[in-house]
Amino acid sequence: MDYLKTQGVKSLKGNIRISGAKNASLPLIAMTILAKNKVNIKNLPHVADINTLLKLLSNLGAECNFLDDRVIVDTTSINNTKATYDIVKTMRASILVLGPILARFGHCEVSLPGGCAIGQRPIDLHLKALEQMGAKIEIKAGYIEATTPNGLKGCEIIFDKITVTGTANIVMAAALAEGVTTITNAAREPEVVQLCEVLDASGVKIKGIGTAILTIHGTGGELVDIPEFTIIPDRIEAGTYLCAAAITKSELTLTHVEPKHLGAVLAKLEEMGSSFTLGKDFITIHPAKDIKPVKIITQEYPAFPTDMQAQFMALATQADGVSIIEERLFENRFMHVSELQRMGADISLNGHTATVSGKAQLSGTDVMATDLRASSALVLAALVSEGETNIHRIYHLDRGYDSLEKKLEGVGAKIERLKE
Ligand code: EPZ
Repeated sequence: MDYLKTQGVKSLKGNIRISGAKNASLPLIAMTILAKNKVNIKNLPHVADINTLLKLLSNLGAECNFLDDRVIVDTTSINNTKATYDIVKTMRASILVLGPILARFGHCEVSLPGGCAIGQRPIDLHLKALEQMGAKIEIKAGYIEATTPNGLKGCEIIFDKITVTGTANIVMAAALAEGVTTITNAAREPEVVQLCEVLDASGVKIKGIGTAILTIHGTGGELVDIPEFTIIPDRIEAGTYLCAAAITKSELTLTHVEPKHLGAVLAKLEEMGSSFTLGKDFITIHPAKDIKPVKIITQEYPAFPTDMQAQFMALATQADGVSIIEERLFENRFMHVSELQRMGADISLNGHTATVSGKAQLSGTDVMATDLRASSALVLAALVSEGETNIHRIYHLDRGYDSLEKKLEGVGAKIERLKE
């Protein structure tokens, strides 16, 4: 297994190019199951989760041809509708194939994703909505067995909770359903918006894109012709590097980024003392001299994203004062706390709320990544720790960050990938 050896740095300098968004790529790859044509996807990030989903599609019979940061996906040859446990267990977002496979083939078996470090991550809302659309769903031997005896029918779906992949799954199912589906309490994340925009450009009329109420006019089973598209920039990758600049008090410029997707993150960094120069597709961060403490509550987009919580906790260890961080979406997304405490952070937990007292002098040591965003928080802490930090189990990091150590090394970080 690989690990990252890092040294604390005085500061960073230069530009970082942001890759395509992992969480936009995953539903958009699943969406190719609805296509009658070969689909050309540009700006794919080189991350493990994308490879996992493309492997899943290949196992179903699709053809995926990679050309650097783009892929051409041909799903016309799919001849199998079973997503097996060996793949689904490595990436729970595999559940995103359920809606499209069911809509196109009328039957589908998807392994239940199983547990995850950050929480139980149920999919009850996905299944309930598909049943409302006419699906018959049974859980047998760890698999979701779904059929549509009379096809999927459009209807009124009201999500009890806002669910990102739940919204994506139902949008894709509704795209081929008979009639009109409305989704109330839909997720508004930019990744869901891009899925709707691409489907709309493919002839699936969708109203309310970007709002909490989506109206999807299904094709009644007719496959769609999906035009070439470019994955939007990864706002969480961008937010992570903004935190790297803030924690090391460095001026960095991020390119190929969408500032509009980072409103809540930029606002919190400003509260902590940073300022910004924003362009159409770049952000330059001007760091605070002294980092101020902050209060953060994670909520659905456009509020502060849960996927940035761990990174801001690392940053808060360097603030002069007490920060409060409340995690409202997942029940166990504080796995990074114990590792940060081992580096010298002063953090106390009370249920879903962390109290971070700064400024703490962090010391390098051996730490272990536990989940994707926790891993990036450990990298940020390592950048301002005295001495050497070795971050183990970075396969978590590789799931969602494209060449993280190379991008940081490119702006002056002392970081290298070694074999255990
Ligand atoms: C997506 O996960 C993202 N993953 C996550 O990013 C992100 O943290 C999460 O949205 C929240 O923004 C992808 O897009 C691939 P949810 P998802 O369904 O869709 C509950 C990362 O780091 N819920 O929006 O699985 C659920 O338990 C990953 O890139 C139900 O109760 O999250 C959670 O409390 C981590 N029943 C809340 O809703 C359901 O059927 C939000 O979950 C579905 C969800």
